[in-house]
Amino acid sequence: MLIVQTIAELKACLNGEREQGHSVGLVPTMGALHAGHASLVERSVKENDVTVVSIFLNPTQFNDKKDLERYPRTLEADCELLEKCGAQVVFAPSVEEVYPEPDTRVFSYPPTDSVMEGAFRPGHFNGVCQIVSKLFDYVEPDRAYFGEKDYQQICVIRRMVEDLKMDINIVACPVIREESGLARSSRNTLLSDDERQLAAHIYRVLSESRKKQMSVAETHDFVVSEIDAIEGLKVQYFSIVDGLTLADVSTWDDAESVVGCITVYCGAVPIRLIDHIRYK
Ligand code: PAF
Repeated sequence: MLIVQTIAELKACLNGEREQGHSVGLVPTMGALHAGHASLVERSVKENDVTVVSIFLNPTQFNDKKDLERYPRTLEADCELLEKCGAQVVFAPSVEEVYPEPDTRVFSYPPTDSVMEGAFRPGHFNGVCQIVSKLFDYVEPDRAYFGEKDYQQICVIRRMVEDLKMDINIVACPVIREESGLARSSRNTLLSDDERQLAAHIYRVLSESRKKQMSVAETHDFVVSEIDAIEGLKVQYFSIVDGLTLADVSTWDDAESVVGCITVYCGAVPIRLIDHIRYK
């Protein structure tokens, strides 16, 4: 496995691959890799001749400095995991390499990027589009792999790819969950054992809400009240939306696919956790 830090090294090694007609898969990450990332890399390894994994803790997508500071950094362990998954290239650049100058580009895809995470974390998706568009330019992948755990992020990236007319297949991969149902996330390492058990209630309640055959408004209220009733958990938002545009729906017939997206604060610090469930 090759580990490169500069864009020039990355391009040089990928040019060689392309000359041989090899397909390239990209898995963008911010490091602190877990089983969820491993599933993306393994899928890319199956579907492409070469898999590039980027590890870059992108400062422009953090609107909260503290969140960036406490984000786990585990480069050595990440590279060990990637080697086992069969990745061929790791791209781990410095901030100066990626942003020699501030990136002033503005991406705007409402309502996809303005609701939910877009509303509560102003500038977040602009930062995501800045880094992902740069990575797409450097790597020019045939396919790029993203976890459905960040459901809204995939919708925004699809809009960006469409808007910039990039010839890249965006592959959405299913959420990987712990046995308890908790969605795998790099932020889970910041939870104590007790908090992890609390956090497992999020998906339990979402799953229960799907079985209950209630209206959209009743489903919303059920999820929020059940989770808020658990000490140590506090819902920031729960939105039931069109699975494509992310516009709110008021009945189950308003859209072809309907998804419930939730953000919950968990524990003492507290840690912000996101999850979602597909209703149809
Ligand atoms: O999902 C993430 O880890 C990040 O948002 C991404 C796509 C790697 C961009 O920094």
